[in-house]
Amino acid sequence: MKIDVVSIFPEIIRCLSEFSIVKRARDKGLVDINALDLREFTDDRHRTVDDAPYGGGAGMVMKPEPFFLAVDHLLQQGPADEIIVLSPAGKSFDQKAAEKLACCQRLIFLCGHYEGIDQRVADHLATMELSIGDYVLTGGELAAMVVVDSVTRLLPGAVGNQQSLAQESFCQGLLEYPQYTRPPVFRGHEVPQVLLSGNHQEIANWRRRMAEERTKRRRPDLVEDEL
Ligand code: ADE
Repeated sequence: MKIDVVSIFPEIIRCLSEFSIVKRARDKGLVDINALDLREFTDDRHRTVDDAPYGGGAGMVMKPEPFFLAVDHLLQQGPADEIIVLSPAGKSFDQKAAEKLACCQRLIFLCGHYEGIDQRVADHLATMELSIGDYVLTGGELAAMVVVDSVTRLLPGAVGNQQSLAQESFCQGLLEYPQYTRPPVFRGHEVPQVLLSGNHQEIANWRRRMAEERTKRRRPDLVEDEL
């Protein structure tokens, strides 16, 4: 998979691509992550990427031209499956969306700052607008890398044990069951006995029950659909 991220802070993208599974996936050639500086697609001395909002109001809005030019440049290298604007006003990103994006060959992410990006970018350049949650970040870079991370780990070969993907939270519409490792007693707190029993059926039943209880308590919105 090829991923391009357009940003005024390409160093954030490069830095966050240097660790853990994303780094390993890059080293294995499963994903190629390329950060592009939006300011390279400006034509004035100050490399201006923003301007005052039409209609008045606080803050600055990111201009459309640099984004269109950056994407023109990227598309000269070949087509993209999705061009994604990160915005708190976008559609909620979730595990299903990550699974769909993991099937793509090429993704382009467009990161905004200030009061957002001129709407024409989302309407006439991007193919989707995504939000990673109901809160406002200072820019789209962290949001883009949340999406990149969750997609990259789904690429075949990125995670050592593919089974661990099948068990985790959201995979079956439930939060994951609690996990324990050694020691069996820590500061007086014991690991649930059933996990030490060696009885795989009982362990599976216990895990399912815990996942259901936890989901009902913490995320009743998920349970309505699944149980
Ligand atoms: N940019 C700022 N806040 C964001 C959010 N919650 N999701 C995606 N992009 C953002």
